[in-house]
Amino acid sequence: MSILITNIGELVTNDPEADDLLGIIESAALVVDGAKVAWVGSAADAPAADQQVDAGGRAVLPGFVDSHSHLVFAGDRAAEFAARMAGESYAAGGIRTTVAATRQATDEQLTAHVARLVLEMRRQGTTTVEIKSGYGLTVKDEARSLAVARQFTEETTYLGAHVVPDGDPDEYVALVTGPMLEAAAPHARWIDAFCETGAFDADQARTVLTAGAAAGLSPRLHANQLGPGPGVRLAAELGLTAVDHCTYLSDDDVHALRESGTIATLLPGVEFSTRQPYPDARALLDAGVAVALASDCNPGSSFTSSMPLCIALAVREMRMTAAEAVHAATAMGAAALDRDDVGSLLAGKRADLVVLDAPTHVHLAYRPGVPLVTQTWIEGHPATVP
Ligand code: NIG
Ligand code: FE
Repeated sequence: MSILITNIGELVTNDPEADDLLGIIESAALVVDGAKVAWVGSAADAPAADQQVDAGGRAVLPGFVDSHSHLVFAGDRAAEFAARMAGESYAAGGIRTTVAATRQATDEQLTAHVARLVLEMRRQGTTTVEIKSGYGLTVKDEARSLAVARQFTEETTYLGAHVVPDGDPDEYVALVTGPMLEAAAPHARWIDAFCETGAFDADQARTVLTAGAAAGLSPRLHANQLGPGPGVRLAAELGLTAVDHCTYLSDDDVHALRESGTIATLLPGVEFSTRQPYPDARALLDAGVAVALASDCNPGSSFTSSMPLCIALAVREMRMTAAEAVHAATAMGAAALDRDDVGSLLAGKRADLVVLDAPTHVHLAYRPGVPLVTQTWIEGHPATVP
Protein backbone atom coordinates (compact mmCIF):
# COMPACT_ATOMS: atom_id res chain seq x y z
CA MET A 1 0.00 0.00 0.00
CA SER A 2 1.38 3.39 -1.00
CA ILE A 3 0.66 6.70 0.75
CA LEU A 4 1.31 10.13 -0.74
CA ILE A 5 2.04 12.80 1.90
CA THR A 6 1.55 16.06 0.08
CA ASN A 7 1.41 19.81 0.83
CA ILE A 8 4.60 19.56 2.92
CA GLY A 9 5.79 23.14 3.55
CA GLU A 10 9.40 22.06 4.07
CA LEU A 11 10.76 18.54 3.62
CA VAL A 12 14.14 17.81 5.22
CA THR A 13 15.67 14.96 3.21
CA ASN A 14 19.31 15.07 4.43
CA ASP A 15 20.29 14.33 0.83
CA PRO A 16 24.11 14.32 0.93
CA GLU A 17 24.19 15.42 -2.73
CA ALA A 18 22.18 18.60 -2.07
CA ASP A 19 23.75 22.07 -1.93
CA ASP A 20 22.37 22.76 1.56
CA LEU A 21 23.13 20.63 4.62
CA LEU A 22 19.55 19.42 5.10
CA GLY A 23 18.62 18.84 1.45
CA ILE A 24 15.46 20.87 1.93
CA ILE A 25 12.64 20.69 -0.62
CA GLU A 26 9.93 23.34 -0.27
CA SER A 27 6.29 22.69 -1.29
CA ALA A 28 7.19 19.02 -1.25
CA ALA A 29 5.61 15.59 -1.28
CA LEU A 30 6.78 12.15 -0.24
CA VAL A 31 5.50 8.69 -1.17
CA VAL A 32 5.67 5.87 1.35
CA ASP A 33 5.45 2.33 -0.01
CA GLY A 34 5.15 -0.24 2.75
CA ALA A 35 7.94 0.43 5.26
CA LYS A 36 10.04 2.56 2.93
CA VAL A 37 10.18 5.89 1.19
CA ALA A 38 9.49 5.38 -2.52
CA TRP A 39 9.73 8.94 -3.82
CA VAL A 40 10.46 12.52 -2.68
CA GLY A 41 10.18 15.74 -4.67
CA SER A 42 8.10 18.76 -5.52
CA ALA A 43 4.39 18.35 -4.70
CA ALA A 44 3.62 19.47 -8.25
CA ASP A 45 5.44 16.42 -9.66
CA ALA A 46 4.12 13.82 -7.22
CA PRO A 47 3.02 10.45 -8.59
CA ALA A 48 -0.37 8.94 -7.68
CA ALA A 49 -0.66 6.64 -4.65
CA ASP A 50 -3.30 4.42 -3.01
CA GLN A 51 -3.91 6.96 -0.25
CA GLN A 52 -3.25 10.66 0.21
CA VAL A 53 -2.44 12.63 3.37
CA ASP A 54 -2.41 16.46 3.43
CA ALA A 55 0.41 17.81 5.62
CA GLY A 56 -1.22 21.24 5.68
CA GLY A 57 2.01 23.12 4.91
CA ARG A 58 3.80 21.62 7.93
CA ALA A 59 7.48 20.61 8.00
CA VAL A 60 8.38 16.93 7.65
CA LEU A 61 11.76 15.68 8.89
CA PRO A 62 13.51 12.33 9.23
CA GLY A 63 12.70 10.81 12.63
CA PHE A 64 15.30 11.61 15.28
CA VAL A 65 18.01 8.99 15.81
CA ASP A 66 18.91 9.05 19.50
CA SER A 67 22.23 7.19 19.53
CA HIS A 68 22.83 7.29 23.31
CA SER A 69 20.45 6.41 26.15
CA HIS A 70 20.37 4.44 29.38
CA LEU A 71 16.68 3.52 29.64
CA VAL A 72 16.94 0.26 31.57
CA PHE A 73 16.83 1.31 35.20
CA ALA A 74 14.61 1.56 38.23
CA GLY A 75 14.29 4.17 40.95
CA ASP A 76 14.43 7.92 40.96
CA ARG A 77 17.19 10.44 41.66
CA ALA A 78 15.14 13.62 41.83
CA ALA A 79 16.58 14.36 45.29
CA GLU A 80 20.12 14.18 43.85
CA PHE A 81 19.07 16.59 41.09
CA ALA A 82 17.49 18.96 43.61
CA ALA A 83 20.66 18.90 45.73
CA ARG A 84 22.70 19.68 42.63
CA MET A 85 20.52 22.62 41.78
CA ALA A 86 21.13 23.80 45.36
CA GLY A 87 24.89 23.76 44.74
CA GLU A 88 26.23 20.19 44.96
CA SER A 89 28.36 18.98 42.07
CA TYR A 90 27.59 15.96 39.87
CA ALA A 91 29.60 12.85 40.67
CA ALA A 92 29.49 9.54 38.81
CA GLY A 93 28.99 7.84 42.21
CA GLY A 94 25.22 8.39 41.97
CA ILE A 95 25.18 5.55 39.43
CA ARG A 96 25.41 3.07 42.34
CA THR A 97 22.07 4.30 43.74
CA THR A 98 20.38 3.34 40.49
CA VAL A 99 22.26 0.02 40.38
CA ALA A 100 20.80 -0.96 43.75
CA ALA A 101 17.24 -0.11 42.62
CA THR A 102 17.65 -1.83 39.24
CA ARG A 103 18.83 -5.09 40.81
CA GLN A 104 15.68 -5.10 42.97
CA ALA A 105 13.31 -4.63 40.03
CA THR A 106 11.67 -7.52 38.18
CA ASP A 107 12.07 -7.99 34.41
CA GLU A 108 8.43 -6.96 34.04
CA GLN A 109 8.97 -3.73 35.97
CA LEU A 110 12.07 -2.88 33.91
CA THR A 111 10.24 -3.66 30.65
CA ALA A 112 7.25 -1.50 31.60
CA HIS A 113 9.56 1.38 32.51
CA VAL A 114 11.47 1.20 29.22
CA ALA A 115 8.16 1.01 27.32
CA ARG A 116 7.01 4.21 28.99
CA LEU A 117 10.22 6.04 28.13
CA VAL A 118 10.26 4.77 24.54
CA LEU A 119 6.67 6.01 24.10
CA GLU A 120 7.75 9.37 25.54
CA MET A 121 10.55 9.45 22.96
CA ARG A 122 8.25 8.57 20.07
CA ARG A 123 5.87 11.33 21.02
CA GLN A 124 8.83 13.69 20.67
CA GLY A 125 9.89 12.35 17.29
CA THR A 126 12.52 9.72 18.06
CA THR A 127 12.23 6.78 15.67
CA THR A 128 15.50 4.96 16.39
CA VAL A 129 16.99 4.67 19.87
CA GLU A 130 20.13 3.06 21.22
CA ILE A 131 19.73 1.63 24.73
CA LYS A 132 22.58 0.69 27.07
CA SER A 133 22.79 -1.63 30.03
CA GLY A 134 25.03 -0.49 32.89
CA TYR A 135 22.80 -0.39 35.96
CA GLY A 136 22.98 -4.14 36.62
CA LEU A 137 26.74 -4.73 36.92
CA THR A 138 26.39 -8.44 37.71
CA VAL A 139 26.37 -11.19 35.08
CA LYS A 140 22.66 -11.81 35.59
CA ASP A 141 21.58 -8.17 35.82
CA GLU A 142 23.56 -6.99 32.78
CA ALA A 143 22.24 -9.87 30.66
CA ARG A 144 18.63 -9.27 31.67
CA SER A 145 18.96 -5.50 31.19
CA LEU A 146 20.07 -6.13 27.61
CA ALA A 147 17.32 -8.70 27.02
CA VAL A 148 14.81 -6.05 28.16
CA ALA A 149 16.38 -3.42 25.87
CA ARG A 150 16.32 -5.83 22.90
CA GLN A 151 12.55 -5.90 23.02
CA PHE A 152 12.61 -2.26 21.94
CA THR A 153 15.62 -1.84 19.64
CA GLU A 154 18.37 -3.62 17.73
CA GLU A 155 20.76 -0.92 18.93
CA THR A 156 21.63 -2.38 22.31
CA THR A 157 24.90 -1.64 24.08
CA TYR A 158 26.63 -3.63 26.80
CA LEU A 159 27.96 -1.17 29.41
CA GLY A 160 29.18 -3.50 32.16
CA ALA A 161 32.11 -1.06 32.45
CA HIS A 162 29.95 1.78 33.78
CA VAL A 163 31.48 1.93 37.26
CA VAL A 164 33.14 -0.63 39.56
CA PRO A 165 30.18 -1.64 41.79
CA ASP A 166 32.37 -2.83 44.66
CA GLY A 167 35.57 -4.77 45.35
CA ASP A 168 38.79 -4.87 43.36
CA PRO A 169 38.75 -2.96 40.02
CA ASP A 170 41.01 -5.49 38.25
CA GLU A 171 38.78 -8.36 39.31
CA TYR A 172 35.75 -6.44 38.09
CA VAL A 173 37.36 -5.79 34.68
CA ALA A 174 38.07 -9.54 34.46
CA LEU A 175 34.39 -10.22 35.13
CA VAL A 176 33.26 -7.61 32.55
CA THR A 177 35.54 -9.08 29.87
CA GLY A 178 34.85 -12.71 30.85
CA PRO A 179 31.60 -14.27 32.09
CA MET A 180 29.59 -11.01 31.94
CA LEU A 181 30.60 -10.40 28.31
CA GLU A 182 29.67 -13.97 27.42
CA ALA A 183 26.20 -13.55 28.94
CA ALA A 184 25.68 -10.07 27.47
CA ALA A 185 26.99 -10.57 23.92
CA PRO A 186 23.97 -12.48 22.54
CA HIS A 187 21.74 -9.50 23.38
CA ALA A 188 24.05 -6.67 22.33
CA ARG A 189 25.31 -5.02 19.16
CA TRP A 190 27.72 -2.58 20.84
CA ILE A 191 30.10 -2.46 23.80
CA ASP A 192 30.79 0.74 25.73
CA ALA A 193 32.90 1.85 28.70
CA PHE A 194 32.91 4.96 30.90
CA CYS A 195 36.48 6.24 30.62
CA GLU A 196 36.68 8.87 33.36
CA THR A 197 38.29 9.57 36.73
CA GLY A 198 36.17 7.60 39.21
CA ALA A 199 35.18 5.03 36.59
CA PHE A 200 37.67 3.30 34.24
CA ASP A 201 41.11 4.48 33.10
CA ALA A 202 42.31 4.27 29.49
CA ASP A 203 44.03 0.89 29.93
CA GLN A 204 40.94 -0.64 31.51
CA ALA A 205 38.67 0.86 28.84
CA ARG A 206 40.96 -0.46 26.09
CA THR A 207 40.88 -3.94 27.67
CA VAL A 208 37.07 -3.89 27.81
CA LEU A 209 36.57 -2.64 24.25
CA THR A 210 39.16 -5.05 22.82
CA ALA A 211 37.51 -8.02 24.53
CA GLY A 212 34.11 -6.87 23.27
CA ALA A 213 35.37 -6.54 19.72
CA ALA A 214 36.82 -10.07 19.93
CA ALA A 215 33.34 -11.26 20.95
CA GLY A 216 31.81 -9.61 17.87
CA LEU A 217 30.54 -6.37 19.44
CA SER A 218 31.29 -2.92 18.00
CA PRO A 219 33.02 -0.58 20.43
CA ARG A 220 32.00 2.95 21.43
CA LEU A 221 33.02 5.06 24.44
CA HIS A 222 31.91 7.58 27.09
CA ALA A 223 34.79 10.04 27.42
CA ASN A 224 35.86 13.49 28.63
CA GLN A 225 32.53 14.15 30.37
CA LEU A 226 33.63 15.27 33.83
CA GLY A 227 37.09 16.56 32.98
CA PRO A 228 39.95 16.33 30.51
CA GLY A 229 41.32 12.82 30.00
CA PRO A 230 42.67 10.21 27.62
CA GLY A 231 39.30 8.76 26.47
CA VAL A 232 38.77 10.77 23.30
CA ARG A 233 42.31 10.05 22.09
CA LEU A 234 41.78 6.35 22.83
CA ALA A 235 38.56 6.42 20.78
CA ALA A 236 40.39 8.07 17.88
CA GLU A 237 43.30 5.64 18.12
CA LEU A 238 40.92 2.66 18.03
CA GLY A 239 39.06 4.24 15.09
CA LEU A 240 35.71 4.05 16.86
CA THR A 241 32.55 5.08 15.02
CA ALA A 242 31.61 7.49 17.81
CA VAL A 243 32.80 8.82 21.15
CA ASP A 244 30.23 10.38 23.43
CA HIS A 245 30.14 13.46 25.74
CA CYS A 246 33.38 15.27 24.60
CA THR A 247 32.75 18.09 27.07
CA TYR A 248 36.38 18.74 28.02
CA LEU A 249 38.58 18.62 24.91
CA SER A 250 42.11 19.80 24.23
CA ASP A 251 43.29 20.94 20.80
CA ASP A 252 45.04 17.56 20.48
CA ASP A 253 41.75 15.76 21.15
CA VAL A 254 39.99 17.79 18.43
CA HIS A 255 42.83 17.10 16.01
CA ALA A 256 42.71 13.36 16.81
CA LEU A 257 38.95 13.26 16.15
CA ARG A 258 39.34 15.03 12.83
CA GLU A 259 42.11 12.64 11.75
CA SER A 260 40.24 9.47 12.75
CA GLY A 261 36.82 10.56 11.48
CA THR A 262 35.30 9.45 14.81
CA ILE A 263 31.97 11.18 15.40
CA ALA A 264 31.75 13.35 18.53
CA THR A 265 28.31 12.71 20.02
CA LEU A 266 27.35 15.67 22.19
CA LEU A 267 24.75 15.27 24.94
CA PRO A 268 23.62 18.75 25.99
CA GLY A 269 20.93 17.39 28.34
CA VAL A 270 23.84 16.45 30.62
CA GLU A 271 25.27 19.95 30.82
CA PHE A 272 21.76 21.34 31.27
CA SER A 273 21.08 19.14 34.29
CA THR A 274 24.55 19.11 35.83
CA ARG A 275 25.36 22.81 35.25
CA GLN A 276 28.67 21.91 33.68
CA PRO A 277 29.92 23.97 30.73
CA TYR A 278 28.52 22.86 27.37
CA PRO A 279 30.90 21.15 24.91
CA ASP A 280 32.40 23.47 22.29
CA ALA A 281 30.39 22.26 19.32
CA ARG A 282 31.41 25.28 17.27
CA ALA A 283 35.12 24.47 17.64
CA LEU A 284 34.50 20.83 16.66
CA LEU A 285 32.43 21.71 13.58
CA ASP A 286 34.80 24.46 12.50
CA ALA A 287 37.70 21.99 12.78
CA GLY A 288 35.86 19.55 10.49
CA VAL A 289 34.87 17.01 13.16
CA ALA A 290 31.56 15.19 12.60
CA VAL A 291 29.07 15.95 15.38
CA ALA A 292 25.95 14.03 16.47
CA LEU A 293 23.42 14.95 19.16
CA ALA A 294 21.75 12.49 21.53
CA SER A 295 19.74 12.63 24.76
CA ASP A 296 21.81 10.40 27.10
CA CYS A 297 18.44 9.82 28.79
CA ASN A 298 19.34 8.41 32.24
CA PRO A 299 18.17 8.99 35.81
CA GLY A 300 21.34 10.76 36.96
CA SER A 301 22.96 13.20 34.59
CA SER A 302 20.21 13.83 32.00
CA PHE A 303 16.66 12.66 32.61
CA THR A 304 15.25 13.99 29.38
CA SER A 305 13.93 11.88 26.51
CA SER A 306 13.52 14.93 24.28
CA MET A 307 15.57 15.32 21.13
CA PRO A 308 13.80 18.64 20.42
CA LEU A 309 15.16 19.93 23.75
CA CYS A 310 18.66 18.75 22.78
CA ILE A 311 18.35 20.58 19.44
CA ALA A 312 17.21 23.78 21.15
CA LEU A 313 20.11 23.58 23.65
CA ALA A 314 22.61 22.88 20.87
CA VAL A 315 21.47 26.00 19.02
CA ARG A 316 21.10 28.36 22.00
CA GLU A 317 23.95 27.15 24.19
CA MET A 318 26.40 25.49 21.81
CA ARG A 319 26.17 27.87 18.85
CA MET A 320 25.16 25.25 16.32
CA THR A 321 22.90 26.49 13.53
CA ALA A 322 19.39 25.02 13.53
CA ALA A 323 20.31 23.12 10.36
CA GLU A 324 23.48 21.69 11.97
CA ALA A 325 21.54 20.65 15.07
CA VAL A 326 18.75 18.93 13.11
CA HIS A 327 21.33 17.18 10.91
CA ALA A 328 23.24 16.08 14.03
CA ALA A 329 20.03 14.66 15.56
CA THR A 330 19.08 12.73 12.42
CA ALA A 331 21.70 11.89 9.77
CA MET A 332 24.63 12.03 12.19
CA GLY A 333 22.81 10.02 14.85
CA ALA A 334 22.36 7.36 12.18
CA ALA A 335 26.05 7.58 11.25
CA ALA A 336 26.98 7.25 14.93
CA LEU A 337 25.12 3.91 14.89
CA ASP A 338 26.63 2.87 11.55
CA ARG A 339 23.18 2.92 9.99
CA ASP A 340 22.42 4.08 6.46
CA ASP A 341 18.76 3.02 6.35
CA VAL A 342 17.59 5.73 8.76
CA GLY A 343 18.35 9.43 9.33
CA SER A 344 17.36 10.63 5.85
CA LEU A 345 14.22 10.70 3.72
CA LEU A 346 15.20 9.51 0.27
CA ALA A 347 13.87 6.71 -1.97
CA GLY A 348 14.82 3.35 -0.45
CA LYS A 349 15.27 4.61 3.13
CA ARG A 350 13.03 3.59 6.01
CA ALA A 351 9.86 5.69 6.19
CA ASP A 352 10.66 6.98 9.69
CA LEU A 353 9.53 10.58 9.86
CA VAL A 354 8.11 13.35 12.00
CA VAL A 355 5.49 15.92 11.10
CA LEU A 356 6.02 19.21 12.95
CA ASP A 357 3.19 21.58 13.75
CA ALA A 358 5.44 24.30 12.32
CA PRO A 359 6.47 25.47 8.87
CA THR A 360 10.23 24.85 9.19
CA HIS A 361 12.82 22.89 11.19
CA VAL A 362 14.05 26.19 12.72
CA HIS A 363 10.97 26.19 14.98
CA LEU A 364 12.50 23.30 16.97
CA ALA A 365 14.97 25.83 18.42
CA TYR A 366 12.86 28.97 18.00
CA ARG A 367 9.98 27.51 20.07
CA PRO A 368 11.76 25.62 22.85
CA GLY A 369 9.65 23.47 25.14
CA VAL A 370 6.65 23.49 22.80
CA PRO A 371 5.39 20.03 21.72
CA LEU A 372 5.72 20.63 17.96
CA VAL A 373 5.88 16.95 16.93
CA THR A 374 2.32 16.11 15.89
CA GLN A 375 3.00 12.77 14.21
CA THR A 376 5.80 10.23 14.33
CA TRP A 377 5.83 7.54 11.63
CA ILE A 378 7.93 4.41 11.96
CA GLU A 379 8.39 2.12 8.95
CA GLY A 380 5.53 3.78 7.12
CA HIS A 381 3.01 3.76 9.97
CA PRO A 382 1.93 6.38 12.49
CA ALA A 383 3.59 5.15 15.71
CA THR A 384 2.19 7.39 18.42
CA VAL A 385 -1.05 7.60 20.29
CA PRO A 386 -2.53 11.01 19.39
O1 NIG B 1 26.16 9.12 30.40
N1 NIG B 1 28.57 8.93 32.13
C1 NIG B 1 28.14 7.94 32.63
N2 NIG B 1 26.89 7.53 32.66
C2 NIG B 1 25.74 8.35 32.54
C3 NIG B 1 25.31 8.88 33.85
C4 NIG B 1 24.75 7.86 34.67
C5 NIG B 1 24.15 8.27 35.97
O2 NIG B 1 24.48 9.32 36.57
O3 NIG B 1 23.33 7.46 36.38
C6 NIG B 1 25.99 9.45 31.55
O4 NIG B 1 26.01 10.64 31.90
FE1 FE C 1 25.72 7.96 28.88
